[in-house]
Amino acid sequence: MRSLRTTLRTTLRTGLPLGALLTGVATIGALLLTAPAAHAAETPLRDLAAAKGKVIGTAVTGSKLTGTYGDIAGSEFNALTPGNAMKWGSVEPTRGSFNWAEADQIVDFAEAHGQQVRGHTLVWHSQNPSWLTNGSWTSAELSQLMNDHIALEVGRYKGRLATWDVVNEAFNEDGTYRQTLWYNGLGADYIAQALTAARAADPSAKLYINDYNVEGVNAKSTALYNLVKSLKERGVPIDGVGLQAHLILGQVPSTMQQNIQRFADLGVDVAITELDIRMQLPSDSAKLTQQAADYKAVMNACLAVSRCVGATVWGFTDSDSWVPSTFPGQGAATPYDENYAPKPAYHAIAESLGGGTTTPPPTDACTAAYSVTSQWNTGFTGQVRIACSGAALSSWKASWTFGAGQQLTQAWNASCTQSGATVTCSNASYNGTVPDGGSVTFGFNGSWSGSNPVPAVTLG
Ligand code: XIL
Repeated sequence: MRSLRTTLRTTLRTGLPLGALLTGVATIGALLLTAPAAHAAETPLRDLAAAKGKVIGTAVTGSKLTGTYGDIAGSEFNALTPGNAMKWGSVEPTRGSFNWAEADQIVDFAEAHGQQVRGHTLVWHSQNPSWLTNGSWTSAELSQLMNDHIALEVGRYKGRLATWDVVNEAFNEDGTYRQTLWYNGLGADYIAQALTAARAADPSAKLYINDYNVEGVNAKSTALYNLVKSLKERGVPIDGVGLQAHLILGQVPSTMQQNIQRFADLGVDVAITELDIRMQLPSDSAKLTQQAADYKAVMNACLAVSRCVGATVWGFTDSDSWVPSTFPGQGAATPYDENYAPKPAYHAIAESLGGGTTTPPPTDACTAAYSVTSQWNTGFTGQVRIACSGAALSSWKASWTFGAGQQLTQAWNASCTQSGATVTCSNASYNGTVPDGGSVTFGFNGSWSGSNPVPAVTLG
C-alpha cells in the first residue's frame, strides 16, 4: 500500500502519461476501500494496552471472524466478549438442548490469538429462552434453574475465561431493583446466589456485575455501589463492576473517573465493558472529532484509576454495531467505519494508550478552499489551498465529492485518489506541515463535461 502510494505520488510529480496515472488511481481507490490499511503502520491497540497492563477488547459475532473482520479482531484487541453467543437464549433455546457452537468458536479463536475472553452474561432479564420466561416456577425451581445454568455454562469454560458478567442490568434508573424474573422470584438475594454459584463453578474467573447508565455518579450507580459494598461486607464473591458505557455523543459524564475510583476504593476492579458512542446519522467530521474526544475521555477516566482494567468496545466496526437497529436514526458508534477504516475514535483510543498517533486538531481553525484556476474544452486545472489560523497541522487530508462527473487526471504536491465521485488527497512527504498562520496549496488537472461546479472540501 505504502509503496503503491509513494509510486503514485512520484509518478504524479514527474508527470508521466495520463493513461498510466488513471490506472494507478483506480487501483489504489479500490484498495483504499477494501483494506484496513490506514492503521497498518501504527502499533496495534492490543500492543499499546499490553504495555500498560490493560485490556482493550471488543464484542464479536462468531460467524464474522474471518477475512478483514477476523484480522482486525485478532490483531487489534487482546480480549473478546461474545456479543450474543453466551446468552441463555443462545445456548439453551429449548430446555435441555444446547447450542455451544458460536460460543466455542469465539473461545477457540481467542485462545488461538492469545486473547482473554469475557463471558457475557449469565443472569439477565433479556435474551432468555421463551421456555424459561414463559414458565411458571416456584422460588425453589427458579433458584435451581439459575444455579444449574451457571454451573453448566461456567463449568464448560472453566479455566479458559478470564471474566464473567454474572449479573447484568439489575437496577432501574432510580436505583431500585429492576423487577425481573429473578428479582420477582428470588428477591435481591438472587445476585449473591448467582455470584456464589459462579465462583464454585470456576474459582479462577473474575466475577462482575454489569450495568448501563452507571458510568457517572447518579442514583443508579449509587445503588450499584451500595450493593457491591454490602456484598463485599457479607463476603459474597465479587471481583468487579462493569460499566457498559453505551454513551451518546458529547455526553461522557464528567464524574466518570470519580465514579470508577469510588468502586475501586471498595476493593473491586472496574471494567468498561460495552463502550460505544452513538450519534445522529449522518456522521460528519465535526461529530467524528467530538466522538474521538469522547472515546479519549472514557479511556482516560479508566486509565487514571489503577483498578480499572481496561475497556471493551461493543463491536469494533460500524457494520457490526447494535446501535442502528436499536436506536433508529443513530449509529457510527464504533472506532472503525463500515469499511473497516479506522475513525478518529480509533486514533483517540491509541493515543490514550500511549500510541504515537495524534488526533487531528479541530479543523475549523484550518480551512480548505477549492478553486478552478483554468478551464478549457474538456479539461481544467484546479487547486486547493489549506490555510490555518489558531492551529497548525503536521499532516493533512482533503476530500471532496465531484457533483457533475468530473474526473481527476493528475495531481501535484499531494497524493490523490478518486473512487467514484469522491477524491481524497493527502499531503506529500514535504508539505504536511501547515503552520499556524500559514498555508499550503496543491494542484490537479481533471476532465469535465456539461458543467464544472466547485465542490465543498472537507479537511480531516
Ligand atoms: C445486544 C447485542 O449487541 C445485540 O446484538 C442484541 O440484539 C441485543 O443485545 N447491554 C448488554 C448487551 O449487556 O448484551 C446488549 O447486547 C447491549 C446492551
